[in-house]
Amino acid sequence: MKTGAVPKGLRVAVLGVGKIGGAIVKSLLSCGAVVTGTGRRRETLERISRLGAEATVDNRLAAKVSDVVILSVKPYQLPRLLEEIRDVMEGKIVVSVVAGVRLSTLSRALEGSHVYRAMPNINALIGRSTTAVAEYTGDKRASFVESILSCMGSVYWIPEEWMDVWTALVGSMPAYVAVMIDSLTLGGVSAGLPREVAFKAVIDTLGATAEHLGKRDIHPSVLRDEVTTPAGTTIEGLKVIEGEGVDAALIRTVEAAARRAAAIGEAIDNEVRRSLNLR
Ligand SMILES: NC(=O)c1ccc[n+]([C@@H]2O[C@H](COP(=O)([O-])OP(=O)(O)OC[C@H]3O[C@@H](n4cnc5c(N)ncnc54)[C@H](OP(=O)(O)O)[C@@H]3O)[C@@H](O)[C@H]2O)c1
Repeated sequence: MKTGAVPKGLRVAVLGVGKIGGAIVKSLLSCGAVVTGTGRRRETLERISRLGAEATVDNRLAAKVSDVVILSVKPYQLPRLLEEIRDVMEGKIVVSVVAGVRLSTLSRALEGSHVYRAMPNINALIGRSTTAVAEYTGDKRASFVESILSCMGSVYWIPEEWMDVWTALVGSMPAYVAVMIDSLTLGGVSAGLPREVAFKAVIDTLGATAEHLGKRDIHPSVLRDEVTTPAGTTIEGLKVIEGEGVDAALIRTVEAAARRAAAIGEAIDNEVRRSLNLR
């Protein structure tokens, strides 16, 4: 559900405005929030100002003046950031998009705050993220948090134990799809189409096919069979997909990424606990 608005004058701090933080700042501004973004380098601060948010290096100040605090630094940068802000977080709503760091760890590090863990994807840049969110305890602020995340696109509440798989499937999926689009485009070029024509046709057909499946609510194999004429063109292509193991490779792609997400998650979480003496 995309609400496209947050309470008037809502102040949000985005701590660590990089690739995903920038997309978050952009979408929050479009929803009418008053946003303060942080970074350490001058280029980062200039980028934040260009987006239309207030820019500062002072994470504590940014957190202190805000109702909602979004954590969007790299996982290894998190312990230092938490150390810096932890004594001004009482009563704040915290949304961490940092891969791997568990809600129990965040909640212990930021005592007195209400912590949520979200996993958006880079499509937030165009307001089309598919974002998962998990909460530590059932709390009345959930619908409020959903309205904030809705500024980036669609929002799904999931149990935290699914977060690593979500990261591997949905967080990484724009990269997988980008590779597929490129390969299909090259296929078109190889068979004789100009690159620009092939590229536009591929992204148009990909978007339309996804929408088609969603609208008719049918299993993908139904659509596949409708397109596949006996002894025709499509079956020749499908035989290659099957023979080269492209379908199985996609399954293994997500499995491999999910294993990695779980392993990194555990290592990062332990590191954050160790750095902040939370054992
Ligand atoms: N990229 C994605 O598609 C994506 C999707 C979902 C979740 N995530 C998660 O989002 C987080 C950020 O990923 P990213 O790809 O956006 O990384 P990134 O581009 O490296 O962004 C991190 C930003 O944090 C800033 N930063 C680092 N330490 C800071 C500090 N102490 N105070 C203030 N700012 C600080 C850095 O700016 P300076 O260099 O100026 O300090 C940098 O711009 C990661 O934890 C990742 O797991 C990313």
